[in-house]
Amino acid sequence: MAKEVDIFGAALQDFIDNKYTEDIVVHSSIAEDDIIPIPYLFRPFEEMPVIEQRALSLSKGTILDIGSGAGSHSLWLQEQGLDVTGIDISEGAVTLSRKRGLKKAVHSNILEHKGTYDTLLLLMNGTGIFERISKIDDYLKHLKTLLNKDGQILIDGSDIAFMFEDEDGGFWMDTHRDYYGEVMYSMSYKGEQSSSFDWLYLDYERLAWYAQKNELNCELILEGDHYEYLAKLTLT
Ligand SMILES: C[S@@+](CC[C@H](N)C(=O)[O-])C[C@H]1O[C@@H](n2cnc3c(N)ncnc32)[C@H](O)[C@@H]1O
Repeated sequence: MAKEVDIFGAALQDFIDNKYTEDIVVHSSIAEDDIIPIPYLFRPFEEMPVIEQRALSLSKGTILDIGSGAGSHSLWLQEQGLDVTGIDISEGAVTLSRKRGLKKAVHSNILEHKGTYDTLLLLMNGTGIFERISKIDDYLKHLKTLLNKDGQILIDGSDIAFMFEDEDGGFWMDTHRDYYGEVMYSMSYKGEQSSSFDWLYLDYERLAWYAQKNELNCELILEGDHYEYLAKLTLT
């Protein structure tokens, strides 16, 4: 089988090698093509959304930054003297975050990772990693195994219902999907295209419902001004 192209890793690496000439193009099942501006993945604390800043300020103890990307959140936490490990499924992203100075960085799918932490951080639509509604239970069960007794999961998400409303108040949805927030993406960059992958946008009420189902407390910490939120999950 051909090796999956590491679009994320390649684009991040180009950025620090001064070869940044274009952004990642994102093709989705629900909207026109969009871009991920590469410099955004290198954002310093001052340029992070308030939701992310709050999540970082609430992080404590041993921290696992899940889907750490270029390592921007992890590096800020490390600078504050905290014990943080970044983990990412993109090998290129992990290599790059180490080059940027991150001391602990693991290349793995989160579902295959073992260990225990005081804080699990999932940021930049952290619920995306859950892929689909039908997989939330698997992810939450696994995240619970990674939590110390008094630990916390800080996760951001977004309700994208507004994308399916038409001008006269109607609501449409792809009937092949279980829920409107299930999106299929692929990414292209400098002539290469990734395979399609699932990414989940989850409204807060559904997250809270799945948390309760999996015996986790769920608390709404902060809401943004465009349907996004930060939630804290703890063991019951
Ligand atoms: C939207 S990016 C966010 C990156 C970073 N947290 C930030 O805010 O800049 C999502 C990241 O999650 C990683 N990822 C996706 N699924 C993953 C999984 N199952 N396990 C570990 N990392 C994953 C991707 O490779 C990507 O770097």
